[in-house]
Amino acid sequence: MHKFIKKIKNYEEKPYVIKKFLNPKEITNFIKLYQELPIEVNNQRQKIVKKKWSKKFFPELQSVYEKKLKSAIGNFSMDNPKNKLGEESLGLFQESFMPVSLHVDTGFDFDKIIYKQTLLPLSEEGETVIFKNRFYGCSTTFSINEKELAAKGYNKRSSEHIELYSKKPFNKKDHEKFLKHEEINNLKGLEIEMVYKWKLGEILIFDRTNLHCSSSNLKGKKIGFTTSTIKNEVD
Ligand SMILES: [Fe+2]
Repeated sequence: MHKFIKKIKNYEEKPYVIKKFLNPKEITNFIKLYQELPIEVNNQRQKIVKKKWSKKFFPELQSVYEKKLKSAIGNFSMDNPKNKLGEESLGLFQESFMPVSLHVDTGFDFDKIIYKQTLLPLSEEGETVIFKNRFYGCSTTFSINEKELAAKGYNKRSSEHIELYSKKPFNKKDHEKFLKHEEINNLKGLEIEMVYKWKLGEILIFDRTNLHCSSSNLKGKKIGFTTSTIKNEVD
């Protein structure tokens, strides 16, 4: 469990979208950057390619991105896991052909004041579902499926979410419309806060404590860039 829950909660707010976060030139640069970066993970099982933005690549775009992010969310520090070469990273590019399942990106360091998670779409394809429900343990993928629970990955696997919320059956229409890739019983007690349809140039900002997943509406593939942030004690 995170130690500074009170501080973390103080910073919590509803998810929001900033339109025209990037201009067309910057979008092009982000796509170029993605193409140039080396592959970090190629997971056949989850049909996902991951690349981390090492500080060696596109330094001018880094300062533009950090400056714009600061004007959007205020003071923050980056909190992204290092790449496999041990280099600092500004975030993670994920190219996925399958919807990402229910999880939370709270990290593994309970001494940090976890803050915002951002999603920058690099394709017009893609949709993200943010739930009202929050979680204060470590980064976890939530499932009630035995096979998924036994799978290994970066996140912890757990079904503990079922005990945390109301256990109310999930809305059938919402399940059919957005979440067909999730077992409806895995969504017990969950309530949708926002369904975000990806648009180039925009950025979605939500709290790291918000449960979220992809929507099942995915034709072909999507490419997105995510950053995890923390607040400094002094802010
Ligand atoms: Fe996530």
